[in-house]
Amino acid sequence: MLNLAILSRGPGLYSTQSLFRAARSRGHYVRVIDHQQCSIVVEQGVPQVLYEGGRLVGMDAVIPRIGTSVTDYGAAVIRQFELMGVYTATRSEALIIARDKLKCLQKLSAEHIAVPRTVIAGMPEAVPRLIDLLGGTPIVVKMLESTHGVGVVLVESRSTALSLVEAFTKLGQPVILQEFIAEAAGADVRAFVVGKRVVAAMLRQASEGEFRSNLHRGATATPAVLTPQEEKIVLESARLMGLDIAGVDILRSKRGPLVMEVNASPGLEGIETATKVDIAGAIIENIEKGVERFSKGRKW
Ligand SMILES: Nc1ncnc2c1ncn2[C@@H]1O[C@H](COP(=O)(O)OP(=O)(O)O)[C@@H](O)[C@H]1O
Ligand SMILES: [Mg+2]
Repeated sequence: MLNLAILSRGPGLYSTQSLFRAARSRGHYVRVIDHQQCSIVVEQGVPQVLYEGGRLVGMDAVIPRIGTSVTDYGAAVIRQFELMGVYTATRSEALIIARDKLKCLQKLSAEHIAVPRTVIAGMPEAVPRLIDLLGGTPIVVKMLESTHGVGVVLVESRSTALSLVEAFTKLGQPVILQEFIAEAAGADVRAFVVGKRVVAAMLRQASEGEFRSNLHRGATATPAVLTPQEEKIVLESARLMGLDIAGVDILRSKRGPLVMEVNASPGLEGIETATKVDIAGAIIENIEKGVERFSKGRKW
């Protein structure tokens, strides 16, 4: 039996509940801890986390479910657990890199993973030339930390692209510009990785008149079968990002599968519902193995 904590701000959320039930049913002691209510105590040689007035002790593993609005503090709390020698299902460094679309694509492309052609401008003046580099409009403009498709815009004209980049720059919000993969036709594939396996995959199809296939944008989800090539780049992407649990999103393009992003805290509701796979169970099982390896001194 393990002593587990799910780091989550929403005890009632589907993913949190699903993990909680899976942990319980496998005989573990589990509780939900709000990471924002954790205080970090930095003291020579004795890293601690305070919660509800006491020190958190005796934990075997934490399962981070950190929202995008609190990535930095969430990552700091995870790091503190790492320093305390507690196994974490998602490492703090991996979470930080995955959360930033640019960092994520930089890392993957440097390792020869196929990604949509992507550029970032240091100054709006560079935009016209960068659009040429992308092969012209339409292009996709994305905020670095967008989620649920909010902050992802399809831009048809060069002048709109320039105005958008100017506006975002003024707001201190850096954006990336990306070639638009029209042939994906509003669909993408979400592959869910646990350990070294793809445990489930779904095809998400955007609603009529929408190019973003986020379920929060009304997309529909059906089970998907990955090609061997897709499976290979999905597993490789998760590994390169240092993630044991990952939602890898792929666009099916004319030149083959392109990895669009890797989510470090992928939601369970859509994919468990669409595929009927017990993903939470697979995650807990993987944590059991991880803790065992970890306790033998083989770190992650
Ligand atoms: N370059 C692109 N070409 C075609 N469709 C895209 C492209 N980038 C994003 N999309 C669509 O928009 C959706 C949201 O983009 P994504 O980068 O995943 O942002 P978020 O993190 O907000 O979900 C994707 O799931 C995909 O359907
Ligand atoms: Mg996405």
